[in-house]
Amino acid sequence: MYSSFGGFSSYLRMGQGLGFFFFILSCVCLGGPCFCSAHTDSIKPGEGLQFSKLLVSAQGTFTLGFFILDTRSYLGIWYTSDVNNKKVWVANRDNPISGTNANLMLDGNGTLMIIHSGGDPIVLNSNQASRNSIATLLDSGNFVVSALNSDGSVKQTLWESFDDPTDTLLPGMKLGINLKTGQNWSLASWINEQVPDPGTFTLEWNGTQLVIKRRGDIYWSSGILKDRSFEFIQTHHNIYYFISVCNDNEIYFSYSVQDGAISKWVLNWRGGFFDTYGTLFVKEDMCDPYDKYPGCAVQEPPTCRTTDFQFMKQSVLNSGYPSLMNIDTSLGLSDCQAICRNNCSCTACNTVFTNETGCQFWRDKLPRARVGDANQEELYVLSSSKDIGKPWWIWIIILVVVVFLFMLAVFCCSQRNSRGDGKKRETAKDIDNVKEFSLVSVMAATNNFSDENKIGKGGFGSVYKGILPGGQEIAVKRLSGVSTWGLDQFVNERLIVNQQHRNLIRLLGYCSEGEERMLIYELLPNGNLEDLIFDPDRRKGLDWNTWCNIIKGIAQGLDYLHNHSRLNMVHGDLKASNILLDHDMNPKISDFGTARIFERNESEPQTSKLVGTFGYMPPEYFSEGWCSPKTDVYSFGVLMLEIVSGQRIIPPDCKDDNLSLIRNAWKLWGEGNSLKLVDPAMVGPHSTTQIVRWIRVALLCIQKHEERPTMSDVCSMLNRRDPPEPNPPAIFALR
Ligand SMILES: *[C@@H]1O[C@H](CO)[C@@H](O)[C@H](O)[C@H]1NC(C)=O
Ligand SMILES: *[C@@H]1O[C@H](CO)[C@@H](O)[C@H](O)[C@H]1NC(C)=O
Repeated sequence: MYSSFGGFSSYLRMGQGLGFFFFILSCVCLGGPCFCSAHTDSIKPGEGLQFSKLLVSAQGTFTLGFFILDTRSYLGIWYTSDVNNKKVWVANRDNPISGTNANLMLDGNGTLMIIHSGGDPIVLNSNQASRNSIATLLDSGNFVVSALNSDGSVKQTLWESFDDPTDTLLPGMKLGINLKTGQNWSLASWINEQVPDPGTFTLEWNGTQLVIKRRGDIYWSSGILKDRSFEFIQTHHNIYYFISVCNDNEIYFSYSVQDGAISKWVLNWRGGFFDTYGTLFVKEDMCDPYDKYPGCAVQEPPTCRTTDFQFMKQSVLNSGYPSLMNIDTSLGLSDCQAICRNNCSCTACNTVFTNETGCQFWRDKLPRARVGDANQEELYVLSSSKDIGKPWWIWIIILVVVVFLFMLAVFCCSQRNSRGDGKKRETAKDIDNVKEFSLVSVMAATNNFSDENKIGKGGFGSVYKGILPGGQEIAVKRLSGVSTWGLDQFVNERLIVNQQHRNLIRLLGYCSEGEERMLIYELLPNGNLEDLIFDPDRRKGLDWNTWCNIIKGIAQGLDYLHNHSRLNMVHGDLKASNILLDHDMNPKISDFGTARIFERNESEPQTSKLVGTFGYMPPEYFSEGWCSPKTDVYSFGVLMLEIVSGQRIIPPDCKDDNLSLIRNAWKLWGEGNSLKLVDPAMVGPHSTTQIVRWIRVALLCIQKHEERPTMSDVCSMLNRRDPPEPNPPAIFALR
């Protein structure tokens, strides 16, 4: 009687709406003799569930079945609509079975067990069996064994999977303790993404707070639950109802959501605590001895590590044997890092086995490998944040600037000394394009930096409008203070002198006197794209060709920056407010303060200090600190969604980070309703196919890092007929 869902699995990948549609269809299809099998949600005594078959709850919300991870098999439950089939519960997490010769049985005595060829049956409901019973997967995600009355009605629940949580809390599940039975409800993270065994972190309810422990030591706590919210959890969602119960029988916490809403809270293997789509309660690796985030427990760093030390994944030259190895397979990377950090002589660590368990540690300072070196090995190297703060590319930038200034000096001299030498003068003129302005001349141009001339304010200082004696209008960016970052930005922005492209802003000159650092640009009269996108009146006035021109222009500017300019750069902070518009509404990318140079052949992303703008930056940027051309591709995807929808990725009134624009775009895409996302002012008779293609390209851009197209791909896809089908956005790949 058990249907094979296998045939439909590819449809299910297409997302919730469509998946569910096919689910229904499979039961309605052929009318007459019901050839299509009804999906059952329960197992009766004497029946079994074969390895390849699935149980589906009555409304189709949850699915139960066997799955394979790294050659081992497990029984688990997942949201039917979850394209990643991320398991919300695993029956035999620390007791995997090998092979596929297994099935789930409810025997004549009411014992629920996994029978497999590799050993004794794994019994799930040991002392809670009854002859007349049934095992049912409910729409809450709870898998229950109930005793039945003789008329078939339910007498009582004997066993339930909610009593044995793994790493996920579903609505209605309890965290806490049953004082009568001693039953303890807590979550334990997986060891890593491949190994569901209980890992480094646990989540408990202590009667007033949620507490995450790391190997038994308090790591983070939520603060007390008051007025429907926790002190240290910034949920701006009113979608949750928290329940805290304390009576003679039990002390527990539980939450609920509106009927039918999909929701889960997951404790991940790096101590991250997320809700359904990755909205953070606790960031991965958030609490270490150096940063004090709200809720983090105080951890004393070892005395030898006085500055902030962090782990960086680095390629080092063949490191020889580690000085210490621990083959305990219940240890994961997170444990190895904690052990290494607390041992003064440890310089690097890694896991031992291919399933990333066990720990090995190094003592020596390990030489970094270069691209192409033989015998390299990737390790997690403990580096002081001083080194991280000034990564190697800063030195390249400084070197390039020094060389540039030197050449500037040489050319100035040579021009002065050899008037009339046409060829030389031409070269010198090239460089003369960027002038050094005196402070006095800039003050004159901007009316002494008057408030009337102020046209903007950014993270790095203020921007003033000005007029040069010849009548040319300029924008002056006055960097505030001589902070390290201000200086880096000054150095950085002047690098775009070398970047001549119609979609990049043109730098006219700079001013550097005393403490003042200023950059002088052409003034663009039409303001920035942010003001255009989110102003309904200005949107209305814009014709279709202008939108096309803006989108293509940004894509081409980025492609030039990544691939065709003399320095290969990543912008690193692309967003609507950084795109300026000239007279003819041509877009010009500006604000290169965070740009960085990368080597063209470099496949590994760089790690660096986080400076980008939330919402526009891809998840790997926040979780791993990775920055590569793909970072800009992601930001471009977000920007396109903002353009077509007229909605902000992060609404201004709301510090919420749940990125509903992306969620909504993906949902509508899955339902084939993408046009619903589009601002009605934009859709015209000729534009619908084009707009749907744009949304498709945008979704491709916000996929996982490795799936994202390059900027050149994007440029050609904007014109081509059929870009490929997008995979789910990166924010859905819970890490
Ligand atoms: C039920 O339990 C009895 C006693 O433990 C055992 O002898 C019998 O084999 C069991 N029946 C089934 C169907 O497993
Ligand atoms: C991980 O790999 C090691 C070595 O192959 C093995 O002993 C261990 O059982 C594995 N753990 C799991 C949970 O797969």
